[in-house]
Amino acid sequence: MANLQANLAGIKSPNPFWLASAPPTNSGYQIMKAFDAGWGGAVWKTLGVPIINTSSRYGALHYRDSRMMGFNNIELITDRPLSHNLKEIEEVKKYFPDHAVIASLMVQSREEWHQIVKDVQNAGADGIELNFGCPHGMCERGMGSAVGQEPEVLKTITEWVMEVANVPVIVKLTPNISDITEPAIGAVQGGADAISLINTIQSVIGVDLDTFVPYPQVDGKSTNGGYCGPAVKPIALNMLKNCAQHPDVTIPISGIGGIESWRDAAEHLLLGASNVQVCTAVMHYGFGIVREMISGLENYMDEKGFETLDDMVGKSLQNVLKWENLNLKYKVVADIDTDKCIGCQLCYIACEDGAHQAIGLSGTEENRVPHIIEENCVGCNLCSLVCPVEECITMVRKDDGKQDVSWTDLAAKDMAPTEFEDEKAGGRHHWVPAPADALKK
Ligand SMILES: Cc1cc2nc3c(=O)[nH]c(=O)nc-3n(C[C@H](O)[C@H](O)[C@H](O)COP(=O)(O)O)c2cc1C
Ligand code: SF4
Ligand code: SF4
Repeated sequence: MANLQANLAGIKSPNPFWLASAPPTNSGYQIMKAFDAGWGGAVWKTLGVPIINTSSRYGALHYRDSRMMGFNNIELITDRPLSHNLKEIEEVKKYFPDHAVIASLMVQSREEWHQIVKDVQNAGADGIELNFGCPHGMCERGMGSAVGQEPEVLKTITEWVMEVANVPVIVKLTPNISDITEPAIGAVQGGADAISLINTIQSVIGVDLDTFVPYPQVDGKSTNGGYCGPAVKPIALNMLKNCAQHPDVTIPISGIGGIESWRDAAEHLLLGASNVQVCTAVMHYGFGIVREMISGLENYMDEKGFETLDDMVGKSLQNVLKWENLNLKYKVVADIDTDKCIGCQLCYIACEDGAHQAIGLSGTEENRVPHIIEENCVGCNLCSLVCPVEECITMVRKDDGKQDVSWTDLAAKDMAPTEFEDEKAGGRHHWVPAPADALKK
């Protein structure tokens, strides 16, 4: 059986599944319950000068039958006194010495940073996470994402923390920035032991069409909040990959964002995360989801022959290139399995109106199975993504696999299109219907 023991910059935990700093880690009671359920670590709800929260404070994007595809909050850091939290950290560590308890922190002055770092270390925290990511409320006071968006400031504050830290320090980054590797490098330069990403994405989740007030509503008004949940996973994975591939980001990464299942976690690990953190999925389904995450990841690792997490961390990075280095000679076309097809014709509509008019219909009610017009198909995948029947439309390779020519190669040989009427353009000889044909159908 695969070994799930995790080690993030020296912080050990029985498995890579940590709770992210958020409502599920608001108290020692919740963290004890979570560890008992199987979670390997927990990042405490951010500590600092306690705040006053609004009521209400959450909003959600329900997409068709899925509730909370995206989740939005305007909550701030802890509203509980520091002394209560410190006492509870100490107690949790007594019961669970081998689990990772990380103190998430956010304060302002150098003196405050020094004091709170010493306080949580004395309470027995195994590590510290610096919250430079909160995109609402705290940033208006010069903290959270206001720091994460300024690599120099982030570096300076990290240095302040490193002056007194004697446990590993993780810098948690904000995604509300165009190039996340800049603050990641700031964290490295400031002496941090690891980075974690992502915190929430600045957002307005929706507007009440009757009252004209966006959600969540606080006495008839609203404000921008932080977006998370399944919808943000692609953004998190991209930022993770950018950091993991950057030669100057030399410290380990804790992956956060849209993780709900062992599969989501495995994707983060394969793209370079040494462990993962989860918030929204626990707020939705509770601590119990970790059991399936553990068994699922163990089974997957066994199946792939990974004995330890190190065997799989970053394994996908070699397969992510810059666009300009992809093989332009690779060619696939869609293929419909006529035995599986239910004749819904969703693929036809998608290709006809949204792609390349490469799917034809028989024109009879008896035969509703569409056919691919191979010479028009550019292999975009759209029909296979739209088709509701699993494996009904597959993409079949058509090139001989012997040529690998990228844009970089073409440009080097002066064979890439450079003029508006260039003969070398990819679509130059691709058939498109005449505009007036649109009115004949
Ligand atoms: C209600 C709520 C409160 C949060 N509070 C904090 C916080 O205090 N400190 C922090 O670093 N991140 C906080 N986060 C961000 C999460 O730790 C996490 O980075 C984010 O939700 C993305 O993960 P997810 O997609 O699994 O939810 C909060 C998120 C939510 C939804
Ligand atoms: S979308 Fe799939 S099931 Fe529907 S007609 Fe096309 S191939 Fe058949
Ligand atoms: S792959 Fe794209 S172009 Fe080809 S048939 Fe499907 S939708 Fe049309």
